[in-house]
Amino acid sequence: MHLVGRAGQVGQRGGRGGGRGVGEVLVGDERVAGPRAGLLHQSTPRVALAVAERRHDVGHALDDRRGREVVTPAVAGQQQAALAQLVPLLPPQVLEEGGAGLRRADVEEHPASHGGDPTAWRQTRSVPWDPGFFHDSYPRLEAAFGARLDESLAPRDPSVLLQVVRELDLRPDSRAVDVGCGEGAYAVRLATHFGLRVLGIDPVQRHLDLARAARRDLVPDIASRLAFERGTATRVPVADASLDLVWCRDVMLHVEHPREAYAEFARVLRRGGHVVAHQAVTTDLLAEEEADWLFDVMGVVPSSADPRVLDEGIAGSGLEVVDTLDLAGEWGEWSQEQEGAVGRALLHLARLLRAPERYRAEFGDAAYDVMLGECRWQVYVTMGKLGGRLDVLRRP
Ligand SMILES: C[S@@+](CC[C@H](N)C(=O)[O-])C[C@H]1O[C@@H](n2cnc3c(N)ncnc32)[C@H](O)[C@@H]1O
Repeated sequence: MHLVGRAGQVGQRGGRGGGRGVGEVLVGDERVAGPRAGLLHQSTPRVALAVAERRHDVGHALDDRRGREVVTPAVAGQQQAALAQLVPLLPPQVLEEGGAGLRRADVEEHPASHGGDPTAWRQTRSVPWDPGFFHDSYPRLEAAFGARLDESLAPRDPSVLLQVVRELDLRPDSRAVDVGCGEGAYAVRLATHFGLRVLGIDPVQRHLDLARAARRDLVPDIASRLAFERGTATRVPVADASLDLVWCRDVMLHVEHPREAYAEFARVLRRGGHVVAHQAVTTDLLAEEEADWLFDVMGVVPSSADPRVLDEGIAGSGLEVVDTLDLAGEWGEWSQEQEGAVGRALLHLARLLRAPERYRAEFGDAAYDVMLGECRWQVYVTMGKLGGRLDVLRRP
C-alpha cells in the first residue's frame, strides 16, 4: 500500500524539554491533558468531520457555539435511525465523498515544509522590491490573482483517516483499539463503517463516561462491537498480539515517551496488524516562543510534537513504516471552505487579544488561556505553523 511517500518531511525543529501543561493530570507515568483534553487541538478537523458526516446523515451534530462535534440526546434518536440505515456496513463510496481523496496528484505536496529547508520560507523573494511593479504592474493583476486564490485546492478532510483504514481491507469483526478515544466518536465510526470490534481506551474518566453514554444510544449491532475502558498509550489493556488495528488520533503529543507507546502498539498487534496514527506536529514556521506558550496551555509534551522524535520512536518500536502522509494545513483549509471555522477562530482570537479582561472576568483566567490556545491552534494548523501527520505502520 502506498499513500504518499516522503516520510519525515512534515517539518523539523529542535525538540525542547517538556514542562508540564496547565490543568493536566498524571495517569501512571504519563501526562494527560486536563479536563478539556477531549476538546483540544483538532477542533478544526472535528468541525470538518462533523460536516462530512452530517452530509452523510450519520447523525452527529455541531455544538452551536464552538462548532465542536457533539452527539446530543436530541440527535441520538436521529443517530439511531441513521445508524440503522448503515447496517450492513456503509458502501466504500460513502467514504470517498468527503474531501479530495487520499492522494494529491494535482497540487504540490508539502507546501508548508519547504522540502526540509528551515529558512526557505524567508527566501522565497526572487526579485528585489520594485516600486514600478508594486505600484503599477501588481495592481493590474491583483484581482485575477485574488480570483485564482478563491479557487479551492481541494484539501483533504479528516475522512482521509477512514479511507486509510478502508485500504487496509480488514475483515468485519477484526479487532481494533482506539487509543485516546475521547468521547468515542471515532470508535463508533470504525465499528459502523467497517464492522470492527473496537475497544476505546482513555485515561480521562469523563471521556469514558460520555463514550459509554453515547454507546447506549446506538443500535445493538453497533453497540455490541464497542467497549470503553481506562487505559493509556503505553498501557493498552489487551493481550499480546491480539489486535488487527491500533487507531490513535491526536493523542501522541500528550504522551511523554512516544517510543514506549509505539512499542506498546507493536506488542498488542498481531503480525501484519497496522497502526493508523494522526497528530499535529511542529513545523519550521512555529516560533519557539509560540510553541512554548501554546504547548504549555494545551497540555502538549513539546518533544512529542517534534516529527523527529516520532520518527525515532517508530524506528525503535519494532513497527515498520508503511507510509507517512503530510496533510499540512489541509484540514484547516477544508473546514474554512465548508464552515468558515478558521475565520471564526481568527475573529475570536482578535477579540480575546483586544479585550482580555472582558473574557477573563466572565470565564476566568484558565478558561481564557485555553480558549486563546484553541483559537491559536486552529489558525496555526491552517497556516502551517503546525502540520498534520498521518503514519501508517505495520507489525512485521
Ligand atoms: C485531542 S483528544 C483526541 C480524542 C480522539 N482521539 C479524537 O480524535 O477525537 C486527546 C485525547 O487523548 C487522551 N489522552 C491524553 N493523554 C493520553 C495518554 N497518555 N494515553 C492515551 N490517551 C491520552 C485525552 O484524554 C483525550 O481524550
